[in-house]
Amino acid sequence: NGDTLKFFVNGRMVMEREPDPEATLLQFLRRKLHLTGTKEGCGHGGCGSCTVMVSKLNLDTKKIIHYSVNACLFPLCAAQGLAITTVEGVGNTRTGLHDVQKKLIESQGLQCGFCTPGFVMSMFVLLRNNPTPSKDDIEKAIEGNLCRCTGYRPIVEAFQEFAQ
Ligand code: FES
Repeated sequence: NGDTLKFFVNGRMVMEREPDPEATLLQFLRRKLHLTGTKEGCGHGGCGSCTVMVSKLNLDTKKIIHYSVNACLFPLCAAQGLAITTVEGVGNTRTGLHDVQKKLIESQGLQCGFCTPGFVMSMFVLLRNNPTPSKDDIEKAIEGNLCRCTGYRPIVEAFQEFAQ
């Protein structure tokens, strides 16, 4: 009914009766679904550590479009009918890591690791939309992700291996 929010997270349907109109997607993912891979850094759209992928059907082209969003700014109730992918849905140590995650590890592209899920998601979304990105595309895709350890060089180098 109209009081129930329905959407998908990592391929599973989520139903929330009478969702909190003030909740963000980030709060819901972390507190209700216990998907704590998505991090809260700044809480204000400035750091990218809360990046998730939103997928929806474009009714004109009938194609599914994917885009990255800052879950800390995304109202939970705006998720109605959408498919959300979090870092847990990209890959993990139990079911296997995604190439984006493997490359970061091989290049030692992380220090404290707090920003890592956000970087992974930004790169993952880019590759979903464009499997043959240029170096420029890659730099643009991660420009909203901050690393407070300032370890950008190995991160960028890891991802540049996907450049065509
Ligand atoms: Fe920093 Fe969302 S927590 S952009």
